[in-house]
Amino acid sequence: MSARPTLTGRTMLAGVIGWPVAHSRSPLLHNFWLARHGIDGAYVPLPVRPGQFETAVRGLQAAGFRGANVTIPHKEAAFAIADTLHRSALRSGSVNTLVFAADGRIEAHSTDGDGFVANLEAHGIDVARGPVLLLGAGGAARAIAASLLDRGVPVAVANRTRGRAEALAGMLDGITVMDWARWEDSLPAYAALVNTTSLGMHGGPDDLFAPSLARAPDGMAVCDIVYVPRMTPLLRAARARGLPTVDGLGMLLHQARLGFREWFGVDPVVDAELQALLDADLAG
Ligand SMILES: NC(=O)c1ccc[n+]([C@@H]2O[C@H](COP(=O)([O-])OP(=O)(O)OC[C@H]3O[C@@H](n4cnc5c(N)ncnc54)[C@H](OP(=O)(O)O)[C@@H]3O)[C@@H](O)[C@H]2O)c1
Repeated sequence: MSARPTLTGRTMLAGVIGWPVAHSRSPLLHNFWLARHGIDGAYVPLPVRPGQFETAVRGLQAAGFRGANVTIPHKEAAFAIADTLHRSALRSGSVNTLVFAADGRIEAHSTDGDGFVANLEAHGIDVARGPVLLLGAGGAARAIAASLLDRGVPVAVANRTRGRAEALAGMLDGITVMDWARWEDSLPAYAALVNTTSLGMHGGPDDLFAPSLARAPDGMAVCDIVYVPRMTPLLRAARARGLPTVDGLGMLLHQARLGFREWFGVDPVVDAELQALLDADLAG
């Protein structure tokens, strides 16, 4: 399928605002969905320098854009500019999706947490079956913790810098702080383990992250939100133990659905064809 939409005078527009933005896969996936659904729309990269965010957003609104995704370094500015912060944005403390309403208001969402949960469900994993241990206490961890807690799932957080895990527990009720040095020993208490740190990421702090899953209970789901590479050291260790695994690519795809639905009016599907397209692009 061609990823290039046909443009007309009525083309609906959205894009991703970041600096740099060239690495973003969002144009690839949104334009795939636009082509699949025969929608007269386009989704473009919007390289916006730090300090230029508000000017850019006002310009996009004036030019009739439907909205935008927001990535580094503009997430805080996106939070500040919003007229309506949806619950997901308030709970996660961040914004990655802006919707420009017809009356000029800017609506803001964070879609990472629900994208994470939707991806688990797509893999047949019932998040409600037991407590989840999150490794990491950064932005992604907060969004995921909020979505799990909203579904009544108890969450424990282990982070290298303990104070950051404690700060997260102070922001969201229901989080237990686990010592970073003890997380491998604590595994019997959990139904799922999720890596939200950048450990294992290609070019990240430690490509050779070598966790021990010796104490993981049978059937424990092991998830990594790192998606380059898709098969991370944590997932490889889980496979070796015969545990079910979920990689990070599906979260990236599912978190994009809300924006597409709001801007273009169709709820898109994450399927094998889309995953293969992204897989090939990430490998290339
Ligand atoms: N699949 C998806 O859709 C998706 C979405 C969002 C993010 N991600 C990925 O998730 C990862 C985290 O993103 P983020 O936005 O949450 O980043 P962040 O806010 O910068 O947080 C980074 C986390 O990694 C930890 N960390 C970094 N280096 C470490 C090391 N050497 N040892 C132990 N812990 C270390 C940090 O611990 P300290 O607090 O101790 O520094 C912190 O908890 C990135 O790889 C990102 O690409 C994926």
